[in-house]
Amino acid sequence: MMRDDLKLFNDLVELLLTEETQQPVAQPIDTNDLYSTLDLSLGDHPALDSEFKASLRDIIKSTPKTASTAFFNQLFGGRISRATLGDLLAVMLNNSMYTYKVAGPQVGIEKTILHNICDRIGYGEHSDGTFAPGGSMSNFMAMVMARDRRVPNARNEGILAPMTIYTSEESHYSIQKNAALMGIGRDYVRFVKTNDAGEMLASDLEEQIKKDLNQGYLPFFVNATAGTTVLGAFDPLESISKVCKTYDLWLHLDGAYCGGVIFSRRYCYLVRGIELTDSFSINAHKMLGTPLSCSIIVVQDKKHLYESFSNDADYLYQTDGDDFNLGKTSIQCGRRNDALKLWTLWKSVGTLGLEAIVDHQFQMAELARAYIKQHPDYTLYSEDTSISVCFNYKHIPAKLLCTELYKHAELMVGFGTFRNDEFIRLVTINTLLKEADLMKLFQTIESFVENTLLINKT
Ligand SMILES: Cc1ncc(COP(=O)(O)O)c(C=O)c1O
Repeated sequence: MMRDDLKLFNDLVELLLTEETQQPVAQPIDTNDLYSTLDLSLGDHPALDSEFKASLRDIIKSTPKTASTAFFNQLFGGRISRATLGDLLAVMLNNSMYTYKVAGPQVGIEKTILHNICDRIGYGEHSDGTFAPGGSMSNFMAMVMARDRRVPNARNEGILAPMTIYTSEESHYSIQKNAALMGIGRDYVRFVKTNDAGEMLASDLEEQIKKDLNQGYLPFFVNATAGTTVLGAFDPLESISKVCKTYDLWLHLDGAYCGGVIFSRRYCYLVRGIELTDSFSINAHKMLGTPLSCSIIVVQDKKHLYESFSNDADYLYQTDGDDFNLGKTSIQCGRRNDALKLWTLWKSVGTLGLEAIVDHQFQMAELARAYIKQHPDYTLYSEDTSISVCFNYKHIPAKLLCTELYKHAELMVGFGTFRNDEFIRLVTINTLLKEADLMKLFQTIESFVENTLLINKT
């Protein structure tokens, strides 16, 4: 059965690869028509094999093609086959990463990646990390460790006095959500002002901390960002760290989007001071191009991971020391193997290959900006240090343009806002992108506006 299904899998993947080149943007199905267009039903009896296969083919054709070179919509995209191979193997092996007994050498694979990242960013001998189910959860883990460091008894008694969190106005929404999940409360998240490039202002951070201390609150956690979600901006770590040290606050660096710059000799300056942080998270499924999801959090001192996340369970931990029973430092119990896909990628391209992936993304962003700067019909909003290229074309509302491009199956690209401006956010994170794909994107926008959007408007 498995061998037959692997043949079927190969056929289906062939179809997907063909679709990605011939129909790079799947024709979207209106949500009102979804269940009448595709057979998604589940019945009491087994589906006929022919119907089963036909359904899968139809579903594949209609599913958004995130590996196509017309997908710029999110902070991930493309496909690197060696990484995909690792993930497919992880599915077949189907280990759970909580114990050495069940995961064996996969534990060593995970630890090798974590130690390599800790060394790379200048964390000391006590550092370690874990894989989390995504960047939001990595941020959550950092917040929990910071809370437990500040109020060790919070683990047992809960939060008894109001505690405050600091993050920039441009940071990811998971910070507010996590504050709510942790019982800190959304009202206790302070949004620190940014400069015109969207980078956190350390002076405003300090002012807000002082104000809260005067009012009897307990500041405990600062979240800085390496690659803000819309603009791709990098917060200044050295000045933020000074403030954190003065007031004894945990400094976390959310590198979910652009933490991958640690692999680039050219761009690692964007996270100068990273060694001063208490924790750092990175989504390899974003800048490093692995399949979703592959999120890592590392900490300066692994004792915080144990103190916040270990729990005795004699039905689980039956062999080997804690260092190899990774369930003692993770947020989940059963945990899928997200490390193998990054390891297969890293092993096959080397650290220099990871650097090339990151540098290529910046190079593509540079080409896109150069095109925009040369054409008077375009307005650029983002900085030269970002792989989010934010722009407008002929002052057409970005939301309208992006939505129409999607509905007409022309392009998958999203929009964002900064202060009072709304713009298209072109993300050059897809590792398969070439200059020709970017030029095609601009041509598509221009001809779509002339031939479809403006004609329909008149
Ligand atoms: C800066 C930042 N942090 C965290 C996240 C959340 O990551 P995830 O989607 O893996 O939960 C994102 C997602 O885009 C992000 O941009």
